[in-house]
This record gives sequence, structure tokens and C-alpha cells, in this order.
Amino acid sequence: MIRRPSSRRLLLAGACAILAPVALPLRRVRAATLVATPQQTEGPYYPLAFPADSDNDLVQVRGQAAQAIGTILHLQGRVLDTDGRPLDGALVEIWQSDSNGIYDHPGQSGRDKRDRAFQGYGRVLADAEGRYSFRTLKPVPYAGRPGAHIHLKAAGAGYHLTSQLYIAGEPGNEQDFLYRAATRDPQQRERVEMRLAPANGLEPGAFATSLDIVIG
Ligand SMILES: [Fe+2]
Repeated sequence: MIRRPSSRRLLLAGACAILAPVALPLRRVRAATLVATPQQTEGPYYPLAFPADSDNDLVQVRGQAAQAIGTILHLQGRVLDTDGRPLDGALVEIWQSDSNGIYDHPGQSGRDKRDRAFQGYGRVLADAEGRYSFRTLKPVPYAGRPGAHIHLKAAGAGYHLTSQLYIAGEPGNEQDFLYRAATRDPQQRERVEMRLAPANGLEPGAFATSLDIVIG
């Protein structure tokens, strides 16, 4: 049996039809588009040969008792597309100098003086929610690069980003030509500036930062 709607139901349906919002133009209801992380130069110190230990803890080299010298930084975030969707399985790599500004690279002068307890390079696969994390060192400035930075790559099917991350508020940033080039559009600052906070609950004296990598 087909039930006929009551007059009260018809009245409510009519009221809803009157109150129903007019459909918004498509651009008004789409998710906000995220600013993409800017491409930056790879620089001269991407490893020619990867260290035997290439995990995401750069402060502790497997098989060594000593821990790297420097201030520990927990860097984590997500790899996203510009619609905010996570890119799971992205390969995220970082590399940086030790706390004396020395890279583990044949082109680095004074390489023999480097801190051998610092891994210098690490990589990790983003999880199903696009999350990545590293335990590394707070970067330091060195000759020619007043903006302390961490080099970064993120790659997956159909994309390959190379960039660099800086410490928000560091006075050396504005003197650094690569930082200035990467932040000509002020909106890009949030993609390349790490805002450091004490890593309370993780380890004493360490800093933590969260920074999403947005693939354009
Ligand atoms: Fe560098």
C-alpha cells in the first residue's frame, strides 16, 4: 500500500523547498587550494653514495654508541596534494650539514672533520595518511648560506619535489639568496619555514616542528 503524505508533511516539505539554499557556484564549495611547496635547487651536497644507515633518525647512526653533536629537532608533517589529500607512499628524503656546517660529501672541504656520529642523510616513506617524520638536528648556517636549512626531496608517482626548509624568524634568512627566492610569494613562507617549539614529552632540550609538504 502506498501511504499518502499527511497534509502536515506536505506543509513541511513546502517550507523546506522555500528555505532550501540556492546552489553556490562551484568555486565557492570546493576545498580551499593549498599553496604548493616551492621548488628549490638541490645544491651540491646531495649524497653521491647513501650511508649504510639511511633511516629517519639522523642523530643516531646504527652501530655507533655516540649520538650526533647538536640540538635535536623532531621534524614531522604530511605530504599532501593542493586539495589537501594525503599522498601515501611518498618517499621523503632530507640531508643537511652537521653542527659545524660540514656535509658528508666528496665536494665538501674539511669533510674529514665532520661529525661521524651524524648520519647527514635520511629517508622515510609517508604512511597511509601521508605522514612522515625525522629525528634530526636543528640546522646551522655555514659559509655562503646564512639561512640555516634542511634539504628535502619528496617523490612519488608523477611528482618529484626538491626544496629546502628554514627556521622561522632566523635573522640569517633575509641574507640568504635562496630563502629570498623561495619566499618571493609571502604565502610560500608557511611551506618552507619551520616553526620550532620545545619538544616537551619527546626528549629534553629538543625542538619539534610540524610542516606539511604540498605537491603542486
Ligand atoms: Fe645546504
